[in-house]
Amino acid sequence: MKPRSEERLYRQYMEFFEKAERKRRWNVFEDIPWDDWKPEYASEEMAISAETFCGVEMYLPDYTSEGLNLVRDSFGQAWFHANWGYEESKHSFSLREYLLRTGQRSYDEMREYERKIFEKRWSMPFETPREMAIYGALQEKATWMIYHAQLGRAKEIGDPVLAAIYRLAGRDEAAHASFYQDTLALCLEEDRTGTLSDMAHVIAHFKMPAYDLIPEYEQRIEVMRSVGIDRNVFFRQVLFPILKRLGVTRREIVVAGKLNRDAELARKEAERKEGLMLPGDGGEGGDDPQAGAGEQKGAATTDGDGASAAQAAVERIRETG
Ligand SMILES: [Fe+2]
Ligand SMILES: [Fe+2]
Repeated sequence: MKPRSEERLYRQYMEFFEKAERKRRWNVFEDIPWDDWKPEYASEEMAISAETFCGVEMYLPDYTSEGLNLVRDSFGQAWFHANWGYEESKHSFSLREYLLRTGQRSYDEMREYERKIFEKRWSMPFETPREMAIYGALQEKATWMIYHAQLGRAKEIGDPVLAAIYRLAGRDEAAHASFYQDTLALCLEEDRTGTLSDMAHVIAHFKMPAYDLIPEYEQRIEVMRSVGIDRNVFFRQVLFPILKRLGVTRREIVVAGKLNRDAELARKEAERKEGLMLPGDGGEGGDDPQAGAGEQKGAATTDGDGASAAQAAVERIRETG
């Protein structure tokens, strides 16, 4: 980022951190009413959900190491990430304690789950700090929405412990989403065309983090569907409000998505022609798995499925509304 944007980012972080220190800090041991839990609140559906979200949050070593290194030369972003890691650490910790203290999971069961979690490794779905800020804005807001839905279910059951955990963790996620959105506002001011292009790219390839790394993912998804988070809800409650706050129209994203696809097709065509001109290399340069490696947009957009998935996602933006 340009020095002026870095300076604003620093001030943005200072405001975020001051507010976090003064108003949003919470204590796992004092702010969750552990003693008020009763066995009648036990629900296998809620336990599976808590275990799943705990698992997603348990990839913290990968999230923090990869994310922090990506932004290490930006004070505002790097210090945000360090603070972010502390706040996220309480989410998996409190969900884990909930499962253990309520006796819905034994220590050995949690230990085995943890072993399976750490067998796999999360890696960043996008390459640049700007793409990851876009991803962060979507992911944090989607997580807030999921925890908000869980808070509603916990209240229905009357479980004050789970309700407190989802309320406090959800409030953190909302603050994280807000920081990333403010970062994006700066990116848009600095380079609107490039940021719109990245936004179209990230929206088209967005997936929630680590869900597919979690053990017994398919069965968990069945249980969690009952919470009612689907792609439509994602568009209406996550994406569109973010676009609105940033002053970006859906049409701008659709146009940027089309420009991305056109550029991708032109790049493939140029590669193909280059391949035809080079003697003895088989001709079809575009099929070479090495081709495009290290390209700005990464491998996800270079295969046919990626391109059509991207098109479908952007078309969906046009239809939903
Ligand atoms: Fe979290
Ligand atoms: Fe978060």
